[in-house]
Amino acid sequence: MTVHQAPLGLRSYFSSFMAFFLICFSFSILLNHIQNQTQNQVESSIENAQENQNYTLFVDTQDESPNQAPFVDSQDQSPFLVDVDTTNGRNEPEERVISIGRGGGGRDNESISRDDEEKDKCDFSVGRWVYDNVTRPLYSGLKCKFMHDEVACDKYGRNDTRYQHWRWQPKGCDLPRFDANTFLEKIRNKRMVFVGDSLNRNQWVSMVCLVESVVPEEHKTQTYNGSLMSFKVMSHNASIDFYWSPLLVESNCDNPIIHRVSNRIMRAYTIDSHAKNWRDADIIVFNAYVWWKKPNMKMKVWYGSFEDGDAVLEEVEMFEGFEVALKSWSQWLERNLNNTDKRMFFVSLSPTHLWGQEWGAAPDDTCYGETEPIFKEGYRSDGSDYGMMHAAERVIENLKPKGVNVQIVNITQLSEYRKDGHPSIYRRQYVNLTEAQLANPKSYSDCSHWCLPGVPDVWNEFLYAYMVS
Ligand SMILES: *[C@@H]1O[C@H](CO)[C@@H](O)[C@H](O)[C@H]1NC(C)=O
Ligand SMILES: *[C@@H]1O[C@H](CO)[C@@H](O)[C@H](O)[C@H]1NC(C)=O
Ligand SMILES: *[C@@H]1O[C@H](CO)[C@@H](O)[C@H](O)[C@H]1NC(C)=O
Ligand SMILES: *[C@@H]1O[C@H](CO)[C@@H](O)[C@H](O)[C@H]1NC(C)=O
Ligand SMILES: *[C@@H]1O[C@H](CO)[C@@H](O)[C@H](O)[C@H]1NC(C)=O
Ligand SMILES: *[C@@H]1O[C@H](CO)[C@@H](O)[C@H](O)[C@H]1NC(C)=O
Ligand SMILES: *[C@@H]1O[C@H](CO)[C@@H](O)[C@H](O)[C@H]1NC(C)=O
Ligand SMILES: *[C@@H]1O[C@H](CO)[C@@H](O)[C@H](O)[C@H]1NC(C)=O
Ligand SMILES: *[C@@H]1O[C@H](CO)[C@@H](O)[C@H](O)[C@H]1NC(C)=O
Repeated sequence: MTVHQAPLGLRSYFSSFMAFFLICFSFSILLNHIQNQTQNQVESSIENAQENQNYTLFVDTQDESPNQAPFVDSQDQSPFLVDVDTTNGRNEPEERVISIGRGGGGRDNESISRDDEEKDKCDFSVGRWVYDNVTRPLYSGLKCKFMHDEVACDKYGRNDTRYQHWRWQPKGCDLPRFDANTFLEKIRNKRMVFVGDSLNRNQWVSMVCLVESVVPEEHKTQTYNGSLMSFKVMSHNASIDFYWSPLLVESNCDNPIIHRVSNRIMRAYTIDSHAKNWRDADIIVFNAYVWWKKPNMKMKVWYGSFEDGDAVLEEVEMFEGFEVALKSWSQWLERNLNNTDKRMFFVSLSPTHLWGQEWGAAPDDTCYGETEPIFKEGYRSDGSDYGMMHAAERVIENLKPKGVNVQIVNITQLSEYRKDGHPSIYRRQYVNLTEAQLANPKSYSDCSHWCLPGVPDVWNEFLYAYMVS
């Protein structure tokens, strides 16, 4: 953790001076970039919106993925794609429980899940995936009016559908069945906001699709305004929003459309311009992780301000940047949202499946072609940084005595198992692929986001369980 000290003497003048130039330089590059590209982007957004029921355009998705091999490693990829054996040495059949017609979602054991004592003890994060083509999926991806093309796998040609049919079965208890009407009643006259990066947006889209089908056409709208996307249910005066702020604090990645920058700069302790967009919400769902998982990149942290003459730009390891962001975020919550009756959640890390050797596939395999979950109990990807989540846990724990209660939504383990759940190539591509890439699907597979319907639906079942109980 960096301890920031007020700069003294020449050295700090020099630092401030350097910082000033670096920041001006970075932002002017960014601005130029935006000026040159916004026009096109906005035009194509609008075009896209008109064509596609007002869905916006995102160009970010590959870039913010952590170890994303695509584009970089494509030369190293094996050209032999045919013999992708997706079962070899990975699955233990006796653990692959097929459960059909149980009613799903815990209806079979309702009395037990209503038992408070039982509920307190139950940890949803530990459990197993049960194949259930009767009660899953919870909605149709093709019918959801507010689906986003970056996660619309069936629309983009993914024709193996097993990935949609898995139900998460916690150990020792059941998740309550997601009931859209009950949920809408719960958020009547309320505003719920998901705040974070594209994985949080993935979860937001899932939530919108989970509820939208029960709302008549004339009672729902979706609007986009800069970093804020809003799904409104007029009949309930309720709104489920997403607010783009991938680093939580202010940064040079805050543009909701153009945020591929070669240098990430975040402003420590500067979160107000974001927070004003969500501080009035009744339910806030945060996430933060993947933007600090960029290998071979450092984070630049900008402290202080030019007005006060104490501006300093410090280059730190990504992990340190993450801690600065968490600290900034938690201090803001402590000062502004202590002792409120808001429900606040923090969603744990969402793992990726970029490296086949981690689950016993060929070293150059990715999630592409994977059609079954991993059944090895407790499986963890080497790429998942649990240390970062422990840092988040500590920060959240320290908030409790200060009157700020943020509940962790622990979705990491269940998602670790789901190498089959990613879009891979079955999503809209926002850049034109080269012939070399097209010849090698693994090279541009998205193994970070999740197909919908799919894994994030369960993340929302957790939220549902926490909110409705
Ligand atoms: C898209 O937005 C425009 C203007 O905001 C609106 O007139 C139109 O009905 C919307 N289209 C859909 C399919 O929602
Ligand atoms: C409910 O759970 C209990 C204990 O976990 C189990 O013994 C019982 O068989 C379950 N009931 C049904 C209908 O599955
Ligand atoms: C999440 O659950 C896993 C077990 O499923 C546990 O190892 C991990 O520490 C938990 N993480 C958090 C942030 O609670
Ligand atoms: C559900 O899965 C079972 C077992 O895999 C299969 O026999 C059955 O035909 C499937 N049902 C549907 C409706 O797909
Ligand atoms: C699924 O798509 C693949 C190519 O993407 C094709 O080869 C295969 O025949 C399709 N299967 C079905 C059942 O449509
Ligand atoms: C409608 O919802 C907002 C929160 O989104 C709330 O502030 C307002 O009081 C609600 N209106 C009524 C009439 O309850
Ligand atoms: C969009 O947001 C800005 C502030 O962020 C606000 O001033 C403006 O009124 C909003 N536009 C619409 C159409 O809601
Ligand atoms: C708690 O929040 C209130 C505003 O809601 C603020 O005035 C007060 O300073 C906060 N307390 C602390 C210890 O930050
Ligand atoms: C992508 O390719 C299409 C035609 O295949 C072309 O019209 C378009 O301009 C290309 N876009 C970019 C960004 O190169």
